[in-house]
Amino acid sequence: MNTPELLGLSPESLAVAAYALQNGQLVAFPTETVYGLGADATNESAIARLFALKERPQINPLIVHVAHADEADSLVDVDNRARQLMARFWPGPLTLILPRREDSPISLLCSAGLDTLAIRSPGHKAARDLIEAAGIPLAAPSANRSGTISPTTAQHVMDSFASASGDDLALVLAGGKCSIGLESTILDISCDVPVLLRPGAVLQDEIEETLGLPIRLGSGNAARPTAPGQLASHYAPKAQVRLDVKEQLAPGEAYLAFGQMRGLDPDNFRNLSPNGDLFEAAANLFAYLRELDGTAPSSIAVAPIPEVGLGLAINERLRRAAAPRANRE
Ligand code: TXA
Ligand code: MG
Repeated sequence: MNTPELLGLSPESLAVAAYALQNGQLVAFPTETVYGLGADATNESAIARLFALKERPQINPLIVHVAHADEADSLVDVDNRARQLMARFWPGPLTLILPRREDSPISLLCSAGLDTLAIRSPGHKAARDLIEAAGIPLAAPSANRSGTISPTTAQHVMDSFASASGDDLALVLAGGKCSIGLESTILDISCDVPVLLRPGAVLQDEIEETLGLPIRLGSGNAARPTAPGQLASHYAPKAQVRLDVKEQLAPGEAYLAFGQMRGLDPDNFRNLSPNGDLFEAAANLFAYLRELDGTAPSSIAVAPIPEVGLGLAINERLRRAAAPRANRE
């Protein structure tokens, strides 16, 4: 069985990847947030194969990636608020949910039959070069099996799809470690009052400052926490995850620390950021969760992370990693 090919970034590998995408194949590629699993967003059968490879429920819509903001106009209705946000944050880690144009060429499966569409222009230049070379908008969820930890290196992608054949996933483009390491902020701006659906590196106050008005927080955000039992499990390692642990580890428990360690001296630990830097912590989060999980600990205890700035997005991912698995999305 042929396995997915792994290629470094070069004009040649981008051309190979663009050709594969134009022919309905799947290609994983780096973005500044996490690695994406790309497919032609206008090709219904390519999108169907993407859902199958990810084992993702077809009710969960995908984000469409474009090289430039002006490409959004043929896909969605772009109002003034969206234009302001695109001008400030694109290319970059902000996904906008906008009304889908009636004549939008995007696959209906891609947007799960909704009358809205999620769209972003990635900050990573190679990602934009790839979209441009392919000449098509790319649907790209995180390049991992549904419900598991998102990939921030090409090796994570290879590990996630170790059992996949080259017919399922043609190519993985390797572009090093993702600089942000958390998925994009998602803002639903298809309604009167915009709703922050997923926190990320573009922060609530930056959005409010740009729009000049307050936005609402969707569930999953710290200021409007969902009851723990209702949290959908996601980003889940094999081991159970315990949050806000400051003292007393259980036997065999791994520890994911943040900042100075006080009195805790486990055998098996990683420190997200010894200096307490939230950007460094975000960039390390998914890789360290994978590494600790790989040591088959009895569980993974996680230090408290401040609920400020990027800490909000880190904590949202951690709460979902710790959520009861029966609710896994
Ligand atoms: O940073 C990112 O956004 C990465 C990189 C690869 O670009 N992509 C990513 O995709 O995180 P994914 O599929 O893992 O997450 C997309 C999220 C899902 O939670 C989905 O439910 C939501 O976007 N979404 C997509 N379309 C939507 C829509 N029309 N309305 C509401 N939510 C939507
Ligand atoms: Mg994902």
